[in-house]
Amino acid sequence: MLRATELSGVRTERPLWKNKYKKWASNQVDNKCLIIYDTMWKSTEMIADSIQEAFESHGIPVKMANLRHDHISDIVADVLTTRFICVGSPTLNSNMLPTVSGFLTYLKGLSPKNRIGLAFGSYGWGGQSVGHVDDALKECGFKMMEPIKVQYIPDEAQLQEICNKLKQETMITQAI
Ligand SMILES: Cc1cc2nc3c(=O)[nH]c(=O)nc-3n(C[C@H](O)[C@H](O)[C@H](O)COP(=O)(O)O)c2cc1C
Repeated sequence: MLRATELSGVRTERPLWKNKYKKWASNQVDNKCLIIYDTMWKSTEMIADSIQEAFESHGIPVKMANLRHDHISDIVADVLTTRFICVGSPTLNSNMLPTVSGFLTYLKGLSPKNRIGLAFGSYGWGGQSVGHVDDALKECGFKMMEPIKVQYIPDEAQLQEICNKLKQETMITQAI
């Protein structure tokens, strides 16, 4: 049995099973989706919910991770076996939230291969966070889907549009 610390040096108490490590080392991924985000007032979370709906409509299992509640070591354990990695952050002071930045720094160190990424988030005026998340995932070597940005609180029509557009996204339909 391997522990997260043996992989990452961050946390001691959570075990990772040997076959998970083997799978990670050989870059084998399952057709699953992991949506990782943080939010101040839930607008980014609303976008995350629409993304979840789109993936699930294709029968792709989705796991949500909120960086405010879920520990980075636990999230990374899921990254090891997941093909679609979606990362969301609202814009705070022209940047992403520090929790998201910390996660991306950790992810970059792991450099997982064969991943498809998606950056998303809500913003007020400049909306720089989504571009920064997109760049960070590209630096990890991910193939990226078109980023999703919504100004302030998304309304029902915008959420539906996000969901419909993603349902037709070729990187998703080709993976089914
Ligand atoms: C302290 C603070 C700083 C912010 N800075 C920016 C900014 O630099 N650029 C921007 O586009 N929006 C900025 N915003 C607006 C938020 O990104 C916007 O309210 C967004 O809808 C919040 O999304 P959330 O509900 O997911 O937290 C800021 C908001 C706060 C509270």
